[in-house]
Amino acid sequence: MAKLFSFNKAPPALIALFIQVCAFVLAALLCWLAIQLGLYLEVFLPGSFVELAVLLTAQGVFAYFLSIRLRMAYWWRYIHLLFPFAILMALVLQIPTGYFLLGFIVTGALFWSVFITQVPFYPSKPEVWDAVSELLPGKQLRILEIGSGLGNFAIRIAQLRPESQVEGIEIAPLPWLISTVQAKLFTSRVRFRLGNYEKVNFSDYDLIFAYLSPAAMPELWDKALLEMNSESLLISHEFPVPGIDESQKMGFSSDQRECFVYVIGQYRPT
Ligand SMILES: C[S@@+](CC[C@H](N)C(=O)[O-])C[C@H]1O[C@@H](n2cnc3c(N)ncnc32)[C@H](O)[C@@H]1O
Repeated sequence: MAKLFSFNKAPPALIALFIQVCAFVLAALLCWLAIQLGLYLEVFLPGSFVELAVLLTAQGVFAYFLSIRLRMAYWWRYIHLLFPFAILMALVLQIPTGYFLLGFIVTGALFWSVFITQVPFYPSKPEVWDAVSELLPGKQLRILEIGSGLGNFAIRIAQLRPESQVEGIEIAPLPWLISTVQAKLFTSRVRFRLGNYEKVNFSDYDLIFAYLSPAAMPELWDKALLEMNSESLLISHEFPVPGIDESQKMGFSSDQRECFVYVIGQYRPT
């Protein structure tokens, strides 16, 4: 029978939520059992945070082991362990709830659908932008930056390659807004779109520049092979396509992260 739900394919944030809920239920059961067996410590003061601290410690420990069992990336186990303590600290310090709403709105606008795409925002460096421009053939090109963030790469490339048409597409509203404002301020002709690059036809471009994450690379590669023209380039900063040898690699003095260049025609059967 086909599996109704595959943990391997679910977004990590959803698995993490599932783990914390399970860990809370297990911790509550454990505390209830301890009370039934008379293991409840009388020193606990009613109304104090001690009982809550015991419950949340148990929850953190259960979540830690569940995240190992469900094969989440190793850093998640520490997030799981510390998450219940963060709740406890927020309660102890009586932080006004408005701050959480503000934090939610700001991080939501910045990271948006990161729980599905698994691609957070972090910027590339100017040396990378200039090196990519130097690598390009000296003719008019159609260039698309997928996941254009604050827009600095695309704006710089448009300055260096005035003959070319440069576009950016970004899924998160706050970086997109900043890129659009930057384009206006610098009177750049880059067109920034708010949207998902998965819906864009790559055959319209000679260069696709991506700075995404390891999780996005396999699907990006399939899409590039399917849609891009043979002479077109896919350049991925920091993250190579797994299992595929790049056509060329670029290193930088100010940045240890390399760029991986793929000439699409080299990967098509002749
Ligand atoms: C690592 S940042 C790189 C930002 C920028 N390219 C740079 O080099 O500074 C990746 C960006 O891709 C965006 N992103 C992730 N998935 C996307 C998608 N499916 N469509 C469009 N943008 C996406 C994220 O919101 C994030 O801003």
